[in-house]
Amino acid sequence: MSNPSLLILPGDGIGPEVMAEVRKLIDWCAAQGLAFDVSEDLVGGAAYDAHGTPLSDATMAKAQEVDAVLLGAVGGPKYDTLDFSVKPERGLLRLRKEMDLYSNLRPAQCFDALADFSSLKRDVVAGLDLMIVRELTSGIYFGEPRGIFEEGNERVGINTQRYTESEIARVARSAFELARRRSNRVCSMEKANVMESGILWREVVTEVHQADYADVALSHMYADAGAMQLCRQPKQFDVIVTDNLFGDILSDAAAMLTGSLGMLPSASLGAPMANGRPKALYEPVHGSAPDIAGQSKANPIASILSLAMALRYSFERGDLAGRIEAAVEAVLADGLRTGDLLGPDGGSPVSTGEMGDAIVAALSD
Ligand code: IPM
Ligand code: MG
Repeated sequence: MSNPSLLILPGDGIGPEVMAEVRKLIDWCAAQGLAFDVSEDLVGGAAYDAHGTPLSDATMAKAQEVDAVLLGAVGGPKYDTLDFSVKPERGLLRLRKEMDLYSNLRPAQCFDALADFSSLKRDVVAGLDLMIVRELTSGIYFGEPRGIFEEGNERVGINTQRYTESEIARVARSAFELARRRSNRVCSMEKANVMESGILWREVVTEVHQADYADVALSHMYADAGAMQLCRQPKQFDVIVTDNLFGDILSDAAAMLTGSLGMLPSASLGAPMANGRPKALYEPVHGSAPDIAGQSKANPIASILSLAMALRYSFERGDLAGRIEAAVEAVLADGLRTGDLLGPDGGSPVSTGEMGDAIVAALSD
């Protein structure tokens, strides 16, 4: 039997640096008996520089074939003035859309060693472990009509929030399934008080719940109130399911509760492929951080934890994922910090490579 395949797309900014650390963990997996066939390609600004497009058709085709895609980050100031259609972000959006990765899992987990880094009090965030399930392939990110048009003697910018019943139902299912493997609670967030798409969202989530998931505790919240509750008492949540735009915003807010954006992984999952594995892309929640790119200052933990999510959700190796997560906790408990994890009192940061090496070393302890 051939090895499972991975496509690494390091992308821009700190992407290549953090993905170099992920490779060390992929080597460790091979030593545990799980060898991958690994290929690497370009995405984002790097792909634009080489091919004039943020994602070539050839790379897109490869992404469709592999068992999982591991992405670094896309974007940078160099590309800010490019036409919208070839901006680095369009490469990522094309991957999500064409692979139909409708369910985006964004955990917000507070590591005990970092609880004091949160802008909230320790007791509000210590032990926090919630999961935002963001719908990723529809809604206002993709709805038509869209564009900037002339209307009379002025311009008008238009985006459309559009959700079909089946789009809502499938992401709701994935949230309920996940909740059953956690604390069995789902909170669905929309703006049913002002948006028809929100009314439909609430109705469909309720129908799916009643039909197949009545054992899961379901609640509903308006997304603005949800943002407020995330800051007030985040530990009330287990799984939150929400649309594309609200999920984008709420997941950044939830991420910051944990103390550092540099820690948080994500999984974007689609329908099962012929081999039973879901279409999947794994990426850190943080961006390309152009201000520190190329200086070995980046925190590789979010990318390493994204590999752990791949092991759990694509390769049914929750055992290896758990060992990587434990190794990350161990190096943090030992006091190892990249620059983003230094508190106001300072201290001396380790480099990207030193953090990766320390995690690998902790694995063999
Ligand atoms: C994210 C990012 C993306 C988004 C950008 C880079 C297109 O903010 O993954 O949250 O808006 O979805
Ligand atoms: Mg975002």
